[in-house]
Amino acid sequence: MKKILITGACGQIGSELVFALAQQYGSEHIFTTDIQRPPAIIREHSEFIYLNVVDKHSLARIVVEKDIDTIFHMAAILSATGEKDPKYAYDVNMTGLINVLEVARKKRVERVITPSSIAVFGPDAPKNNTPNETPLNPTTMYGVTKVAGEKLLQYYYLKYGLDARSLRYPGIISSETAPGGGTTDFAVDLYLHAVQNHPYACFISEDTPLPFMYMPDAIDAIIKLAGADNRRLQRRVYNVHAMSLTPREIVASIQHHLPEFRCTYAPDFRQAIADSWPNGIDDSAAREEWGWSPAYDLPMMTRDMIERIRRRQS
Ligand code: SER
Repeated sequence: MKKILITGACGQIGSELVFALAQQYGSEHIFTTDIQRPPAIIREHSEFIYLNVVDKHSLARIVVEKDIDTIFHMAAILSATGEKDPKYAYDVNMTGLINVLEVARKKRVERVITPSSIAVFGPDAPKNNTPNETPLNPTTMYGVTKVAGEKLLQYYYLKYGLDARSLRYPGIISSETAPGGGTTDFAVDLYLHAVQNHPYACFISEDTPLPFMYMPDAIDAIIKLAGADNRRLQRRVYNVHAMSLTPREIVASIQHHLPEFRCTYAPDFRQAIADSWPNGIDDSAAREEWGWSPAYDLPMMTRDMIERIRRRQS
């Protein structure tokens, strides 16, 4: 029987992953950790335990006491926060991951799944349809930790046979938990401001294309990868993609439903981060090896986002 641990469970992806895994395996099999106070939905669908992932002894105690066999390691500092305090991003992202890999190896955890990101790519990678295998020379500390993390997963797989897997997420757009400290957060902010009838000053310029995905697809991707037959996987890390969007395109899609919505553009330090990332990435390996395929395009996502945000606010 599966016993699943989710670190960073209060984050943008973690909080929705908890719910999805609880539906699949039953809440009594889900253990969640974070350094934040958990929202009600996490308490209802899992056993929550306070944990800072840099604390390897507490992490090991939870894995042993709860007899964990699968870890979704979601705790991380994102790109924009990471550029404000690179050492902090290094500490959380690298120490957290090595702690998870070490405890998984020593306590014989069956599988570790942890997200990587489009931030592994730097200015020398092809901008369009960026391949799964290509130069990885990121310009952010977040990207550096994600590249190193990918290499660590491969190392633990080759050296110890630990079944560690990762997927390179694009920017994730979601209605339930706001992202924190990412360069792609503007996309979520656009929807939140529009539904609240507030104008928005976007920190990324209007014609900057970036890869995006709607949250239901992001959850589907990570659960599919976690469940994939290892004999079909030819690599440890996969690009996943859904749609390449500029801020202008997202605004136009929102205005289709909310014509009064106004957006101005005031790029800040995050523009340079966005400029160093791909416009869209090639996810054919994920499609071929474990059947990845996104369900949502921009119009479907916009309709659903607006409906959900309205429902939450009413
Ligand atoms: N959404 C992340 C960020 O903007 C990228 O993985 O930092």
